[in-house]
Amino acid sequence: MPQREPIGVIGTGYVGLATAAGFAELGSEVFCVDIDADKIQSLREGEVPIYEPGIEQLLAKHSTRIHFSTDASNALEHARLLFVAVGTPPTHSGDADLTAVHQVVDSIPAADASSRHALVMKSTVPCGTGASITRTFAATDKAAVAYVSCPEFLKEGTAVDDFLYPDRVVVGDAGDWAGDAVVELYRPLLGPEHQGAGSAALVRTDIASAEMIKLAANAFLATKISFINEIANVCEEVGADVVEVARGMGLDERIGPKFLQAGIGYGGSCFTKDVSALKLLAGNSGYHFLLLAAVIEVNELQKRRVVAKLQRHLGALPGKRVALLGLAFKPHTDDMRGAASLVLAARLAAEGVHVRAFDPVAEERARTLMPDLDYATSAMDAVAGADATVLVTEWPEFLALDWGEVAAAMAGTLVVDGRNALTADVIGAAGLRYEGIGRAAAHQPALRAADEAMAAGPEGVRA
Ligand SMILES: NC(=O)c1ccc[n+]([C@@H]2O[C@H](COP(=O)([O-])OP(=O)(O)OC[C@H]3O[C@@H](n4cnc5c(N)ncnc54)[C@H](O)[C@@H]3O)[C@@H](O)[C@H]2O)c1
Repeated sequence: MPQREPIGVIGTGYVGLATAAGFAELGSEVFCVDIDADKIQSLREGEVPIYEPGIEQLLAKHSTRIHFSTDASNALEHARLLFVAVGTPPTHSGDADLTAVHQVVDSIPAADASSRHALVMKSTVPCGTGASITRTFAATDKAAVAYVSCPEFLKEGTAVDDFLYPDRVVVGDAGDWAGDAVVELYRPLLGPEHQGAGSAALVRTDIASAEMIKLAANAFLATKISFINEIANVCEEVGADVVEVARGMGLDERIGPKFLQAGIGYGGSCFTKDVSALKLLAGNSGYHFLLLAAVIEVNELQKRRVVAKLQRHLGALPGKRVALLGLAFKPHTDDMRGAASLVLAARLAAEGVHVRAFDPVAEERARTLMPDLDYATSAMDAVAGADATVLVTEWPEFLALDWGEVAAAMAGTLVVDGRNALTADVIGAAGLRYEGIGRAAAHQPALRAADEAMAAGPEGVRA
């Protein structure tokens, strides 16, 4: 393998570790830096502080060429390109908090013209951040430090694969050596039209456009989810089935089938904060982004609709027992940021419901956010004695539950499928009442039979 450029990675969270492992797999020496000394100590000992499939194995495979430190001096000495993957959480106002990014900018030492360092921004930042940092560099003794925007599109749960097999690589730069060097690093992942061995498209553009691509992509995906959730809610009113509707819509190649799964709302750190950050970025520039205001509101209401569903079926909620299956914002991650479970558990507790929850990997993080929640040791432990069970996160082990056993363990019969991931007939056959999001009984034979039996009165029920 030809000599690959060594790199620095600042911030060792989901994105930083995937970037480090991914570039190490492609042959680079990687110098990781984080301010969290405990995290760095764990990583040095081979312990990965996040749950992300495949990452532990890849970091172990390349342990000799991935270095961890709380001190940036090794990274600065050995690497020209410093990939920044620090957090950019929302502030109280919903704007992006750039404190960590500014800490990194401040920590870059003075650079003379011979210096060959570049900040490569993987963190999601508002459009205009690169221009502002470049101005800061120019106004200080760091004018020689280059800047590249290289937004990350990986998804938690599939971060390693997403990094190694991206749809596209976006490089926003001033057309200088640093942009060229970043493209070179990604070359193996690019398609043959870019002399690569992979299949990714390359979007080489200006810095502001690269920043905007990331925000616009996340805002569009969130819009698609809120749109299908609104359709689901209308389906419930008019007797249509959103799964059928989404299937019919998604076959139109202009629409596509992805992100058309109705449910109890999107979560995660990225959609929630990036949609809000883009809306406020527009607002701060004098433009009222009306559509995103609706996308956000629809999502918040969607998380709360489950409470109304429970109320409709169970009657008065105080004293009822509800099992939550799943807490993480999606399966295959322990990330609790923006998780629908946070809103749902809080709303149910406020209604006087006893909530008992189980998540196969997110319990530790969930406990820091919801210390008073009743945590079960397994899915079956969670549903024991419950009046209703709500599927919050579609972990495979929940989809494979023996619903006959669940029915026997529950006190009540209601199952709310918050992700439309269960099979209504299987639930119905177990003697449980299935309630999805935007599902019509007409498309669920067991439910239809139960409804018809009820409509026919006691005779019908017995039959
Ligand atoms: N998580 C995702 O799926 C995802 C996907 C695409 C883009 N992004 C973006 O990437 C960025 C990082 O996200 P994440 O989920 O990996 O965050 P994270 O919170 O998991 O990790 C951030 C890391 O940065 C470290 N850090 C903070 N300040 C630092 C400093 N001054 N110097 C060194 N390290 C510092 C923290 O200790 C932490 O380990 C965010 O801007 C996010 O929006 C995230």
